[in-house]
Amino acid sequence: MDKLIIYGGQKLKGTIKASRAKNATLPIMAATLLTSKPVRIRNVPQVQDVKTMAELLKSLGAEVNFDGDDVIIESQNDLLLEAPFDIVRKMRASYYVLGPLLARYRKAKVYLPGGCAIGPRPIDLHIKGMEALGARIEIRHGYIEAEAKVLKGQEILLEGKAGPSVGATANVMMAATLAKGTTKIIGAALEPEIVDLANFLNSLGAKISGQGTSTITIEGVKELNGGEWTPIPDRIEVGTYLCAAIATYGEISIEQCEPKHLDAVLFIFNQLGCEVSVDQKVIRLKAPYRPKAISIVTAPYPGFPTDLQAQIMAVLATASGVSYVTENIFKARFLHALELNRMGADIKIEDNVAIINGVKRLSGAKVMASDLRASAALVIAGLGAEGVTEISRIYHLDRGYEALEKKLTALGAKLERIKT
Ligand code: EPZ
Repeated sequence: MDKLIIYGGQKLKGTIKASRAKNATLPIMAATLLTSKPVRIRNVPQVQDVKTMAELLKSLGAEVNFDGDDVIIESQNDLLLEAPFDIVRKMRASYYVLGPLLARYRKAKVYLPGGCAIGPRPIDLHIKGMEALGARIEIRHGYIEAEAKVLKGQEILLEGKAGPSVGATANVMMAATLAKGTTKIIGAALEPEIVDLANFLNSLGAKISGQGTSTITIEGVKELNGGEWTPIPDRIEVGTYLCAAIATYGEISIEQCEPKHLDAVLFIFNQLGCEVSVDQKVIRLKAPYRPKAISIVTAPYPGFPTDLQAQIMAVLATASGVSYVTENIFKARFLHALELNRMGADIKIEDNVAIINGVKRLSGAKVMASDLRASAALVIAGLGAEGVTEISRIYHLDRGYEALEKKLTALGAKLERIKT
């Protein structure tokens, strides 16, 4: 398992380009199962999760070919309708094939994804949505088995206790695309990745409206065409590099991003004392000497994203004063706090609130990555820390950050990967 060695204390300076969003690319790749025609997805991020999705689609019988940074997917033949344990265990987002397979073949079997390092991850809303469309769902031998004679459009209230679900909204939207009649998803997720998926499906001939609001309407169509699509920029990647700039008191610009997807995040960066400016597709950030302490509450879009909670905590670890971070989406998503404390941070967890007593500086240590965003937090902490930080289990980072070492090196960071 590879390790990342970070020599802390280098101010980040310079300009990088954002990659395309992993969390937009994955459902779009799965959605290509809805059509028998070829689809080219441009500029997909070269990360492990995208490779795993490609592997899953191939295992179902789709033809998947990478062409430079593009991937071309054609699901012409009769597909296998089962997403096996071996692949689903590597990546929860494998459940995105459920909706498309059910829509096109009226039958699908997907290994049931379990909890993970960020806590319990129920799928009751996915099931509720598919059942509302007319599918019979059974959980057997660890698999969700879904079958329907016909899928019929319905009005579906899809919100759970923690608010809307990104995954369930995507899955039900994909299933409803080829259903008979009109489906209304009430309590739909507003995330830009959902809007991108809906726009992509419309480009293939689907009839979806209301994406980006809490009610999405899908008029079922008989079939979809092929086409081409470029997924939206990765707002979480952009937020991660901006956090790294703050932790090192640096000054960076990120090009080819979508600043409006980061409104809540840039607002918080302003509160920390950063100078932030936005010019069309570019965000520039100049960090203060030491950020101010603040309170942050994670929330569904357009609120502050849970996927940046760990990274902002690494920043607040050295803020002047006491900060509070409330995690409302995945209430136990705090494994990174323990590792940050190993580096000299002073963080206490009370239920779903982290109380962060800012220290002057973190010190490099041997730490362990537990999930994708927790790993990013450790990288940020290591970049700002005094001395050397050694992060093990960095395969988590490889799942979601394209060319991480290259981009950080371009900004002046000193780090190396040790292959073990
Ligand atoms: C997506 O996960 C993202 N994954 C996650 O990013 C992200 O943290 C999450 O949305 C929230 O923004 C991908 O896009 C591949 P949810 P998803 O369903 O869809 C509850 C990363 O680091 N819920 O929106 O699985 C759930 O427990 C990953 O890139 C139910 O109760 O998340 C949570 O509290 C990690 N029942 C809330 O809804 C359900 O059936 C939101 O989860 C489904 C979810």
